[in-house]
Amino acid sequence: MEVALTFAASGAKGVLFADLNYDGAARAAEQSKALAKHPAYRCQAAMLDVTDSRSVLDLADLAVQSFGRIDYFINAVGLLQVDCAEYVPFEQTQEDDYDRILNINAKGAFLLSQAVVNVMRSQDIHQIDVDRHGTISAGRGAIVNVSSAMAFGAVPAKAPYTASKHAMLGLTRACAMDCKPYDIRVNQVCPAWTKTKMHEDSCRKEPLTPMAVEKMAARHIPMETYEVASACLYLCSPAAVSITGTSLMMDCGLTIGPTF
Ligand SMILES: NC(=O)c1ccc[n+]([C@@H]2O[C@H](COP(=O)([O-])OP(=O)(O)OC[C@H]3O[C@@H](n4cnc5c(N)ncnc54)[C@H](O)[C@@H]3O)[C@@H](O)[C@H]2O)c1
Repeated sequence: MEVALTFAASGAKGVLFADLNYDGAARAAEQSKALAKHPAYRCQAAMLDVTDSRSVLDLADLAVQSFGRIDYFINAVGLLQVDCAEYVPFEQTQEDDYDRILNINAKGAFLLSQAVVNVMRSQDIHQIDVDRHGTISAGRGAIVNVSSAMAFGAVPAKAPYTASKHAMLGLTRACAMDCKPYDIRVNQVCPAWTKTKMHEDSCRKEPLTPMAVEKMAARHIPMETYEVASACLYLCSPAAVSITGTSLMMDCGLTIGPTF
């Protein structure tokens, strides 16, 4: 929800907070009212299950009914493991768990992006006034997927999550390519460990491997949520109108190479 709050605090006119946890979304929407900068700010909360295509389409409809258009869409849904506290070696990974994680992280991103693209492509181009640089075209919309450094690498005993984030990389690129003619930009941010509930859950248990992921995370990071939210904001901003199909790595250099 940090990303949505950041957009409200940065002057967005309207923000729709959506999550499987409706109460969490509603609480964040309420919180956003005190932070919002736009004088006519409006917000709404909705229940969303990204594994259900009807729920995803209903959300896109609700966004259009409530706000008229979708300029920016940030997909920060995610599931680390079936039980976040579990690290499961590859050979013991259950088919059901693999399907469930891919369904939420990868297929969910596909359904969400497709629903949003179908709204964005019918919209007029958004013109933005950038002071001394005049008015620029910001296209028909921008999508940012909150992916992971694990779109490019792996940590031990997290095969389904790693596969789901590699899928998100391909999806981001494919969507960016197909949406270029519509002036819709699609990018992803790739954080390593970030201080969220998911991170707390993940660190509760040492992995069943020689490598201590928690210690590695503590040495390199973890990042604050505002860093990830700010990166999403940047990719939606006029400063990024030429950027599409890219992955913004945010890992304190962890994936530069083995000698880091
Ligand atoms: N926290 C980290 O260390 C970290 C690192 C890299 C990437 N990420 C990515 O950041 C994104 C956000 O994760 P987070 O750390 O904020 O975790 P989080 O658990 O705080 O948030 C994930 C949200 O996804 C929602 N969700 C789960 N299943 C859903 C479904 N079927 N439909 C709709 N919503 C659903 C949950 O209710 C939750 O609010 C994820 O994509 C995650 O993979 C997190």
